[in-house]
Amino acid sequence: MKQSIEDHAARFDEKAAEYDDSKSDEYRACASLVIDHAAPGSDEAVLDLGTGTGAIALPLAEDAKRVVGRDISAGMLEQAREKATERGLDSVEFGEGRFREPNVPDDAEVDVVTTNFAMHHLSDAEKRAALDVVADLEPGRVVLGDVMFFGEPDPEEPFYSPDVDDPATVGVLADAFTDAGYALTAVEPVHEQVGVLVAERVTGVDGVETPVGDSDAETDP
Ligand SMILES: C[S@@+](CC[C@H](N)C(=O)[O-])C[C@H]1O[C@@H](n2cnc3c(N)ncnc32)[C@H](O)[C@@H]1O
Repeated sequence: MKQSIEDHAARFDEKAAEYDDSKSDEYRACASLVIDHAAPGSDEAVLDLGTGTGAIALPLAEDAKRVVGRDISAGMLEQAREKATERGLDSVEFGEGRFREPNVPDDAEVDVVTTNFAMHHLSDAEKRAALDVVADLEPGRVVLGDVMFFGEPDPEEPFYSPDVDDPATVGVLADAFTDAGYALTAVEPVHEQVGVLVAERVTGVDGVETPVGDSDAETDP
């Protein structure tokens, strides 16, 4: 992380009121894909990390049983809460939480985790740690939209600020998902530096996880 959590939070507090006003086509396409892939059922609960002003959490709350939005910026969370009230949504709740300490309510199941345009603030090692924390919550599906490099990183491009952002390559993200026990089921490039990854929890037959090298898992010839 190139800035402290407090610095990131202060930066987003400052821009919270105007955050929704100027969004690139790529950001919109990415958010739309995250919403489409998350597609929670009416019996599913969603955790949205780096929820900001609720671009993902609010539309998902129309369909999900429950949506928990977590962010480090009080200003962004305030905007999200106002929008939830305006839309009459009572299935969504916003509060403080961070990627590596999501602060999930004790009574919340997590079926789907979403995050859009937020994880690139973390270093690659921090992204790995965050995905491990997410995996411990055992969601069936994780949908990550973000700045990510499909080819060579180009610091001249406008999708990230090299002084504060730290996007990963798609390969690094794919490895982190695999190591956390998830398999990529969709890769949606939006731009050379923006995309959406969908990952599903790896389970064996009948939902029983089968560790690699487990001799009991071998079948007789
Ligand atoms: C570019 S905004 C994206 C907001 C929203 N997901 C969207 O699609 O519009 C990034 C958000 O990530 C939050 N953020 C940055 N670092 C974070 C962290 N370590 N944990 C949780 N949220 C974080 C920021 O406060 C900000 O609200």
